[in-house]
Amino acid sequence: VLAIWHQLTKTEIPELAKCSVLMRERSRVEETIYSMQRAGAGSLHVISDFDMTLTRFAHNGKRVPTTHNILDNRLLINEDCTRKMRELLNTYYPIEIDAGRTVEEKLPRMVEWWTKVHELLIEQRIRKDMLAQAVKESSAMLREGHNVFFDRLAELQVPLLIFSAGVGDVLEEVIRQNDVFHPNVHVISNYMDFDHTGVLRAFKGQLIHTFNKREGALSHAACLTELQGRPNVLLLGDSLGDLTMADGVSKPENILTIGFLNDQVEERKESYINSFDIVLVKDETMDVPNGILRCIT
Ligand code: C5P
Ligand code: MG
Repeated sequence: VLAIWHQLTKTEIPELAKCSVLMRERSRVEETIYSMQRAGAGSLHVISDFDMTLTRFAHNGKRVPTTHNILDNRLLINEDCTRKMRELLNTYYPIEIDAGRTVEEKLPRMVEWWTKVHELLIEQRIRKDMLAQAVKESSAMLREGHNVFFDRLAELQVPLLIFSAGVGDVLEEVIRQNDVFHPNVHVISNYMDFDHTGVLRAFKGQLIHTFNKREGALSHAACLTELQGRPNVLLLGDSLGDLTMADGVSKPENILTIGFLNDQVEERKESYINSFDIVLVKDETMDVPNGILRCIT
């Protein structure tokens, strides 16, 4: 039977033969895909990270900005703030992706990073009505094939939960400007709190950073009634912290995880292969998620 499955995925999902694809246990991936296919689109929901997962990591050799980095625009912040935010990025990003540190070691440093950046942003009195223009002027870019991904899920009415430690207001503007903010899309992220004059005063709710998505997943689970009765989950992320995004799903049946390995590839390859079902190495496209969706829906 396994041999037949093998044949089926090869012909049905040729994308899995791309050289960017690594799998620890190919047979488990195939079994999961077939269970999901039998259950169909009505049993499925998708949970995805945003920055560096739905957006590209790099384009033409240049890094693509995260939602935080899109805010680095003179319409919103001054030069001094740009410099301080870059210093923080240079200090904390290497810690975030360091293969030699445990999540426990990284956690307090991430809280520090996000807290400092949010304080800097609040000092800048960012105006809500300038965000759309800043996104327009940025080089933000979704992965190649993103339109197929978003449009197919909308067409099938499969809920897409975007779970991001980035800035929710900016994230929404990016997907709106790309015409993919469809009604099946739900966003959990750090949202800005503006005063009645439209000036940033605080961030709403509990801070979400790379390594506390589990807490966010658990606290939001109850309100996402749309996800109930959909026990199959396709999960996409670029950080090991993203694996906990499905921890709020009640009675999951099949969870297939896809990890984009964008940076520090050699150092992190082993841990990614051991943690995600499918690892995509320096793959700037949505080809594999799209191939899987085509097969299971
Ligand atoms: O959407 P996602 O959860 O991936 O957003 C978080 C990402 O944003 C992190 O991986 C981090 O590298 C990045 N980040 C940033 N600037 C900050 C804070 C986080 O670029 N100030
Ligand atoms: Mg990410």
